[in-house]
Amino acid sequence: MKLLITGAAGFIGSNFVFYMLKEHPDYEIVAYDDLTYAGNLATLQPVLENSHFKFVKGDVADRRRVFSLFENEKFDVVVNFAAESHVDRSIEDPGVFLKTNVLGTQTLMDAARRFKVKRFHQVGTDEVYGDLPLERKDLFFTEQTPITASSPYSASKASADLLVMAYCRTYQLPVTISRCSNNYGPYQFPEKLIPLIISRAMEDKEIPVYGKGENVRDWLYVVDHCKAIDQILHNGKEGSIYNVGGHNERTNIEVVRTVLKLLGKQENLITFVKDRKGHDLRYAIDPSKISNELGWEPETSFEEGIRHTVDWYIENRKWWEDIISGDYQQYYVQMYGSN
Ligand code: NAD
Ligand code: DAU
Repeated sequence: MKLLITGAAGFIGSNFVFYMLKEHPDYEIVAYDDLTYAGNLATLQPVLENSHFKFVKGDVADRRRVFSLFENEKFDVVVNFAAESHVDRSIEDPGVFLKTNVLGTQTLMDAARRFKVKRFHQVGTDEVYGDLPLERKDLFFTEQTPITASSPYSASKASADLLVMAYCRTYQLPVTISRCSNNYGPYQFPEKLIPLIISRAMEDKEIPVYGKGENVRDWLYVVDHCKAIDQILHNGKEGSIYNVGGHNERTNIEVVRTVLKLLGKQENLITFVKDRKGHDLRYAIDPSKISNELGWEPETSFEEGIRHTVDWYIENRKWWEDIISGDYQQYYVQMYGSN
């Protein structure tokens, strides 16, 4: 089995590469990533010498490059993680989100059709469902919840999902989509809430909390997400969408306090700042479908996962310090002559 994993130098993509090489050592994996600011080739260092792994630098929206890659490699399966993924950046500059997340997905699917890929899996997000009211704890996102995107990021991801389903219906492209809640764990770029808190607290810097910190996110340990995608690839029904989440709802301020406590830092580092524009109130996934159909269950509790994550950032300080200082970009210059 030969897999193309796009966005493999990012947070979830790299964890997925490690997971698949461990669980399926006979598979061949090609990682394709444009190494944007969010991609870090140093993350993939441990597998660069693995004979079942190959890294190719390139843009998912570059049609010629994508088609020639598919022609040369003859993939069985494509898993598309490549995306601009940060909501705040999408509010500042939506254009690149549309190019990568929508046109990039279209380009990959066109190649998947042309070269008869057996499965195209789109890594989606629960943000396509908009948000839920804070006071209605009984409400959850199901696969039937209407698409109501709030930010340019979620609108771009929703557009991609619609296109994926359209390619399935119109061209019978064998697709699946997973829509996961907020991930956390090793190798997450320190612009996202959890690694941002950890790295800033370790340097005794202020922790910016948007609004009153009352917004709720449903946290899933990244390896549980990787396992869900693996199960969907093997047993998921073509044309199906699967919500992925583990009922780990926390307010942002609860998450911040938990991390500060684990690090032995004082709460006076917390600084309430201006709220995000259009800030989604609450995300909460109903994972019954993937649980009933595929038997997937999350294995890592929030308490265990967050402890492991904090330990990882303590033990791998150089990884995130290089990102904050910009040094990790030097790696690309060494490898490719430019960023
Ligand atoms: P990330 O930002 O850490 O990684 C994205 C990767 O995609 C980077 O390596 C980047 O270099 C690459 N990339 C960006 N533009 C590209 C392009 N044009 N061509 C090729 N590669 C490109 O993101 P992440 O948090 O790992 O998210 C991965 C996927 O999972 C995204 O599709 C995201 O929407 C989805 N998702 C993320 C979460 C989460 O909590 N992080 C939850 C649900 C779904
Ligand atoms: O739900 C899945 C989504 O989760 C993914 O699709 C996105 O790619 C991923 O980035 C994430 O989106 P969020 O916007 O929920 O994640 P972020 O880490 O940016 O923010 C989490 C919450 O913390 C959110 O309510 C905003 C808040 N926040 C964030 C930052 C960066 C703060 O209060 N302060 C901050 O500095």
